[in-house]
Amino acid sequence: MENNENESIVREAEAAADAAEDSRALYEAKMQFLGRTGKVTSLMKRMKEIAQEMRPAFGKQVNALRERLEEMFALREAHMREREMQKKLEAERVDVTLPGRRRKEGTLHPVTRVKNELIDIFAGMGFEVFEGPEIENDYYNFTALNTPADHPARDMQDTFYVTDEFLLRTQTSAGQIRLMEKKQPPIKMLSPGRVFRSDDDATHSPMFHQMEGLVVDKGITLCDLQGMLDEFARTMFSESSRTRLRPSYFPFTEPSVEVDVSCHICGGKGCALCKGTGWIEVLGAGMVNRRVLENCGVDPDEYTGFAFGMGIERIAMLKYGINNIKLLTENDVRFLEQFQD
Ligand code: DAH
Repeated sequence: MENNENESIVREAEAAADAAEDSRALYEAKMQFLGRTGKVTSLMKRMKEIAQEMRPAFGKQVNALRERLEEMFALREAHMREREMQKKLEAERVDVTLPGRRRKEGTLHPVTRVKNELIDIFAGMGFEVFEGPEIENDYYNFTALNTPADHPARDMQDTFYVTDEFLLRTQTSAGQIRLMEKKQPPIKMLSPGRVFRSDDDATHSPMFHQMEGLVVDKGITLCDLQGMLDEFARTMFSESSRTRLRPSYFPFTEPSVEVDVSCHICGGKGCALCKGTGWIEVLGAGMVNRRVLENCGVDPDEYTGFAFGMGIERIAMLKYGINNIKLLTENDVRFLEQFQD
């Protein structure tokens, strides 16, 4: 074998190695020369064609060539590995000084907040929560609440009927009957839930939430009602809130009252929210009508009680200064995210 041939194989191998862009290509290039069918290996196979006395010299030359190429490839492989490692490190580089990505946290809906707050206030006074069904029958929603079929008070609420007998409850007051049928006094019940009425404007929605309260025991009076409502107003609105009772009418209470809370915006001086009166109507209440107690098998000569019912949306609107009830059902995130803890 000529030395020239040797040199040209080396150059060829170097060119092939130069052309390789990654370690895999470099390995393939190496195999073209040093692999089982590679150029250098096939040179060795030419040994038999060579005269006996030339063979040792020829063998030496091929071995020298192989060693050169092995060294050349080893060097390049080392460089290639180094380059590839650098590239990988560069691509996976992490800037540990970057601030973390803040996860968006959900917030409780204002109606849920007020509901929870109401439950906290009254649970603190020993009330237990009882939830009735949203689809009620006529008896629990009206008749047992002293509102028989021909009673004019049925017109106070536009009812969604499901069948002649079943309806979407118009008031959580139905829960009073369900509980008293099951349980004899003493009773201290709080009943939150959805109610439905065919009613739709800026302050009324066909679905809204109410919180019902019922206390029945021996010797319960209107003063007990007002005492509890004062406590409620102070915790829900402001430390200086007061309440006043105005005579009203509900079929299931006698006497019945409308409860006003002193305006928490102007403190009672008169402003736009309270329409200059200093007072805001927040709920209906009264002493449980003896007919209602009788309907549930509770002796009205032994026990008396009071009940109250309020709209949760209404309380939320007053508390947070929301002027349209629709904001509470649209669920616009820009609105909802204002209610962070
Ligand atoms: N159920 C009445 C309504 O939806 C509110 C109400 C008034 C509830 C007086 C009561 C009550 O428990 O005593 O308008």
